Amino acid sequence: MLSPSPPRAALGDRALFSSLAFDAYLNHAGISPPSRAVVAAVAETLEDYAARGFAAWPTHNERRARLRERLAAMIGAASANDVGFTTNTTSGVMDIALCFPWKSGDAVVLFEGEFPANVTPWQRAAETFGLELRFVSLEGFHRSHEEGLAALDVALADGRARLVAVSAVQFQTGLRMPIAAIAKRAHQAGAQCFVDAVQACGAVPVDVREGPVDYLACGSHKWLMGTEGAGFLYVHPSRIAQLVPRVAGWLSHEEPVRFLLEGAGHLRYDRPVRAQTNFIEGGNVPTPSFAALDASLALIEQLSVPTIFEHVQRYLDALEPALIDRGFRSVRSAFSEGRSGSLCVLAPEGVAIEPLHRAIVRERVACAMPDGHLRFSPHWPNSVDEVPAVLAAIDRAMGRA
Ligand SMILES: Cc1ncc(COP(=O)(O)O)c(C=O)c1O
Repeated sequence: MLSPSPPRAALGDRALFSSLAFDAYLNHAGISPPSRAVVAAVAETLEDYAARGFAAWPTHNERRARLRERLAAMIGAASANDVGFTTNTTSGVMDIALCFPWKSGDAVVLFEGEFPANVTPWQRAAETFGLELRFVSLEGFHRSHEEGLAALDVALADGRARLVAVSAVQFQTGLRMPIAAIAKRAHQAGAQCFVDAVQACGAVPVDVREGPVDYLACGSHKWLMGTEGAGFLYVHPSRIAQLVPRVAGWLSHEEPVRFLLEGAGHLRYDRPVRAQTNFIEGGNVPTPSFAALDASLALIEQLSVPTIFEHVQRYLDALEPALIDRGFRSVRSAFSEGRSGSLCVLAPEGVAIEPLHRAIVRERVACAMPDGHLRFSPHWPNSVDEVPAVLAAIDRAMGRA
């Protein structure tokens, strides 16, 4: 059965990651390795289904109800009813792209350089509903929020924009976006604000009350340190009634399982679709992935997201100047509100990024290479004490590459 209490997490202690095959794992912005607690939760869930089959479902459904409350608390949502489960960030973006009450000629404002998960569904919606996509440059946001927001204002000026979609943290540069200010500007122009929070939740504080944010989608395999296959979507309660439930499935209705549990006469197709965010849960969800998220969130809660954020900043504060000394160019924000869990740098003049990245990974330092940047993304188990070893590995890699 399920473990009564989770193991303890400690900043800088990777004891719960005993199978990790890297000396330093700095790719939490890509995919987090699951902790022993996560592995155990997945195994226990499957064992429970192996033993009990259908009878295990209520146990895990109840566990997910608690998880929904904890996710709501993490992002500052007023109620667990404002949170629906998805299978990844993209499916949350698609839910809103399909269900938004579009009118032909509406405009959607996006940002240049966004991860495609926060572009493709809007492109599909543009084609399906006759929308115009407008891209705003991120350049100004790198210099100051005021400059970036001024560029956004231009895109909102004619009043035709209905939605602004933005990542809370940019995947390529680690730039943290002023989502509350973006939401406010959107509202002033008669638009709404959608946030892709997968590069933030778990390591960067996020609060949907500020703005307020209208929609937020997130997956769990990055900074939430779960596995692939589980995500969530937040919808502000004032926005639910206007959504068109184009993604509804059999579990989206009121009392959807009565016909399976209460005898004859309950099979109906006219039950209303639930007027809360979980209408997006049209069918069964990947239970082991949600058990994974539950277990990893328990560890993150023990430490708290603001504490993790500070811990990660201390790590990056040690790494960044040493990389600059070696000729790398850091694109980390100069101001603290623009910083996230990722430190992204460009390779020194004349050094090709791809062989360098390969050489660093071969030195047992996991990092990523999003569109030509080297990205280092530590999390709570990384200790700042490992930074000298990371730098030594990079020096060896530079020698080889
Ligand atoms: C900003 C951003 N959004 C979305 C994704 C992908 O989301 P998912 O695979 O959870 O749909 C990524 C990275 O994989 C990302 O960096």
